[in-house]
Amino acid sequence: MTNKVALVTGSSRGVGKATAIALAKEGYDIVINYARSKSAALETVKEIEDLGRKALLIKANVGDVSKIKKMFEEIDEAFGRLDVFISNAASGVLRPAMELEESHWDWTMNINSKALLFCAQEAAKLMEKNGGGKIVSLSSLGSIRYLENYTTVGVSKAAVEALTRYLSVELASKNIVVNAVSGGAIDTEALKHFPNREELLDDARKHTPAGRMVEIEDMVKVVKFLVSDDSFMIRGQTIIVDGGRSLLV
Ligand SMILES: NC(=O)c1ccc[n+]([C@@H]2O[C@H](COP(=O)([O-])OP(=O)(O)OC[C@H]3O[C@@H](n4cnc5c(N)ncnc54)[C@H](OP(=O)(O)O)[C@@H]3O)[C@@H](O)[C@H]2O)c1
Repeated sequence: MTNKVALVTGSSRGVGKATAIALAKEGYDIVINYARSKSAALETVKEIEDLGRKALLIKANVGDVSKIKKMFEEIDEAFGRLDVFISNAASGVLRPAMELEESHWDWTMNINSKALLFCAQEAAKLMEKNGGGKIVSLSSLGSIRYLENYTTVGVSKAAVEALTRYLSVELASKNIVVNAVSGGAIDTEALKHFPNREELLDDARKHTPAGRMVEIEDMVKVVKFLVSDDSFMIRGQTIIVDGGRSLLV
């Protein structure tokens, strides 16, 4: 028996890196994917190898389907199996709706939404060889409510959540469980690109019923639950991890 394998896209930093390390601690060998941050990705590799697990590093822009196919060929060659796929990589052009150009839309939708479909297709082919698996996609509150400058990302995440429902039905017969985790604002590098970062942080600190902002580990714990067999009967759901923020105006 070979060891179980998990792919986490965008695992050079932030939520993806923490998820990759958490899954390595649970005993998975890990495929680390990144697009630009090579030294950060190598640091994730080191941390996983220090835990005694294998780490396969793959540079691939998940917005490009030919790169996705190549990434899965490499995974098949190295491990011959895949048990968990976490669709975490994200990017986006943060501008008001009237300032958006076609290239901004395509960039964001390709990396955030299209990647989930085409990675899930390839993941499912590998997962069914070993009797099934788990897919978890990452989303954010902008999918269901207005956030300033967030049009492209919010719409792309709405597509992620819808796709999660469709995939969960169509992959169920392959024993693949598909769900999503959505979160309120988390102070990762992603937030540095927001023109209104300070406002977002201030809002999350002051108006989260749970009394604090969401932290990376809050997301990781729910991803771990969805990857475990305890969540077997949860299908196509988006679990919101926001300390109750989205319940308020
Ligand atoms: N931060 C938040 O407030 C928040 C809230 C809710 C949900 N989320 C979701 O959680 C996930 C992770 O967010 P984060 O805050 O950890 O983001 P982050 O710090 O910006 O990290 C994004 C990761 O995605 C990778 N990436 C970006 N474009 C890529 C591409 N085209 N191909 C492959 N990898 C790519 C980055 O790698 P490179 O640097 O190598 O490009 C990086 O590892 C996202 O899906 C995000 O929407 C975040």
